[in-house]
Amino acid sequence: MVQRETWATRTGFILAAVGSAVGLGNIWRFPFVTGEGGGAAFLLVYLLFVALIGFPAILAEFVVGRKTERNPVGALMELGGSSWKYVGGVFVVTGFVILSFYSVVAGWFIRYFLEGFRGSYANLLTGYEGDAAIMFGELSTGLDAFFFHTLFMVITIGVVALGIRQGIELAVKVMVPAILILLIGMAVWAFTLPDASAGYSYYLSPEFSIIADNWATLLPAAAGQAFFTLSLGMGVMITYASYLGEDRNLTKDGVTIIGFDTGIAFLTGLVVFPVFFSAGITEPGDGGAGAIFISMTEAFATIGGGHILGLLFFGTVAIAALSSAISLLEVVTAYVIDEKGVERWKAALGMGGIIYLLGVPVTYDLIFLDLLDGFADGILLVFGALMLVILVGWITPEVAVKELEKGIGDLGGRGQAWIWAIRVPILLVLVITLYLGVDGY
Ligand code: PFF
Ligand code: NA
Repeated sequence: MVQRETWATRTGFILAAVGSAVGLGNIWRFPFVTGEGGGAAFLLVYLLFVALIGFPAILAEFVVGRKTERNPVGALMELGGSSWKYVGGVFVVTGFVILSFYSVVAGWFIRYFLEGFRGSYANLLTGYEGDAAIMFGELSTGLDAFFFHTLFMVITIGVVALGIRQGIELAVKVMVPAILILLIGMAVWAFTLPDASAGYSYYLSPEFSIIADNWATLLPAAAGQAFFTLSLGMGVMITYASYLGEDRNLTKDGVTIIGFDTGIAFLTGLVVFPVFFSAGITEPGDGGAGAIFISMTEAFATIGGGHILGLLFFGTVAIAALSSAISLLEVVTAYVIDEKGVERWKAALGMGGIIYLLGVPVTYDLIFLDLLDGFADGILLVFGALMLVILVGWITPEVAVKELEKGIGDLGGRGQAWIWAIRVPILLVLVITLYLGVDGY
């Protein structure tokens, strides 16, 4: 048997996991679903979901991966029995669906990045009646979108086919601090805008009536966003934890990953909403998938030297998207390699090629984006998380607690508390959320 690879450096696992988590989910998806969910009300439900369900669930993926040292499909079968291969199959399908539209959106970021080389965003906008929404409308579909979707998929497939993991670690080391610095700078600038306060109150002061009236849509939307942004519910964290040769403290790592991911999403909101309200856009949900592009183009068009900032911003996000896309394709590829015995480059190229084709319709009409994204996040990821919770909570609880204790020490009652949280309340919330998600799709 071949010795299974492990992470080259102590921090390799954390870097890869953060690289997978931080991506379009934080910067592109978070602001627009928050806008659609009514702002602060959505933020609150989302944060609760991350803390109360995301954290226990990420630990579940970690222990399953580290315990079995296998790809998600193999891991689930080893712990649950052979019928769990169907659940693993759903994980692989989820990766397929997510990456197909993810690549199109990442392509938009590359496109906007390149615009920064052509001079100021203000000048650019004059070509689109001075309106950032019109600009987004023209760039998000058609030949441009198709071309950059192709480019992004070629790069993603290339990296996974060659198995260049060191490259990812380095990219994450540069990308995460860069995003943080850019977002903090932009947030400080947004603070000085005339109507910033209206943006803050929309984003930060929840109206509880919104939650009471809309919980049936808020719950699946917040759950979908929480799982999507944390890369949870389809086996990425199982895969990455499966390469952990050493006994790391998994709760600490979980907190680190969730902390970075949530912090970056939250900061994005601190930029986007003040910008929107200052630009006279008081219904942030209306921008839809274009929210981040519209608000940032407005911002970069106003700031002196904005195109340099824009270039840095859109470019960094494209890199963040790449490290997430790699994790998505890696799950699909690892499955084909491990279970079907196909060579790495063939698996990456074959699977990546099909995913690429699935994404092409999105470049034609954004209706396909809603369809794919809604299906993956509102249904597939929630289903995946539910299955994990059943596996760890009901089928292998002792094994799971023992695995979690490695690298931490005796958890005593806390291990049991984790299992019981997963077994009953979390399981129930996920069942209800899944039902609402299916019902609303
Ligand atoms: N977490 C990534 C993001 O926020 O952009 C997206 C993602 C990656 C979702 C990997 C799911 C996944 F398995
Ligand atoms: Na994320």
